[in-house]
Amino acid sequence: MSRSFPDAKSSLLRQRIDALGEWFHNLNLAGIPTAPNHFLGDYPRCKWEGFAHCLPADLSGRTVLDIGCNGGFYAIEMKRRGAERVVAIDHDARYLAQARLATEVLDVEIELRQLSIYDIKRLKEKFDLVLFLGVFYHLRHPLLALDLIHEHVARDLLVFQSMQRGSEEVSHLDSDYPFSETSIFEQRDFPVMYFIEKSYSGDPTNWWIPNRACAEAMLRSAGFEIVAHPETEVFICRRCDGAPGDFFETTIL
Ligand SMILES: C[S@@+](CC[C@H](N)C(=O)[O-])C[C@H]1O[C@@H](n2cnc3c(N)ncnc32)[C@H](O)[C@@H]1O
Repeated sequence: MSRSFPDAKSSLLRQRIDALGEWFHNLNLAGIPTAPNHFLGDYPRCKWEGFAHCLPADLSGRTVLDIGCNGGFYAIEMKRRGAERVVAIDHDARYLAQARLATEVLDVEIELRQLSIYDIKRLKEKFDLVLFLGVFYHLRHPLLALDLIHEHVARDLLVFQSMQRGSEEVSHLDSDYPFSETSIFEQRDFPVMYFIEKSYSGDPTNWWIPNRACAEAMLRSAGFEIVAHPETEVFICRRCDGAPGDFFETTIL
């Protein structure tokens, strides 16, 4: 899909890429990298390589929703795997413009829509595969977002990724504790969300950062069974029937 352009065309494309501001996704657009100096390396390709093997290699006949698509890296990869239809949403018009340029240069058909996750009900559609990558910790209302995904757009698979901090340990918790039990809250592996009142990593849109136990517990609580955990930050989940808030037992593979 990647084409190289002759010099004049190439410098015009360089100008179009630069005109869209700083890119978070490093895409190869006709030989031009969009974010070659990304602080996380060749991002998000380096992240994708840690869980690409967990998703079907052939997505023919399946529909995909990419929530918080940014420059379109994952949506494009889904299309490359043959997905019948890929809808990609983001609330930021500038990132959508980047994704639009990427799909034009790479000649990939993706439906791009400016939409907040809090409005996904408006899509009026359920998708076979929902990608919810790198968005959770940017939300002031993360559990609401998971509940909305469960209720309105997820039919089967959910791929979830969040920044995590704190303990990576997960231990068994009882289903209830007496009011007098306070020591469990001292345990490092108790589910915890760290609230960032001001800024973290220079980004004031980082609001809530879960530890691993919390990411898992919130996914279960919203009605998703975790079926694989291929990479520290990534969980592959299946949607379970039931109202958000129901408790689901989980087996981590
Ligand atoms: C860290 S980037 C992750 C991009 C991509 N999903 C990835 O994993 O590489 C977060 C993206 O989520 C988008 N975003 C943040 N809050 C959102 C919201 N409420 N609704 C939709 N998109 C949102 C941002 O505009 C940004 O493109």
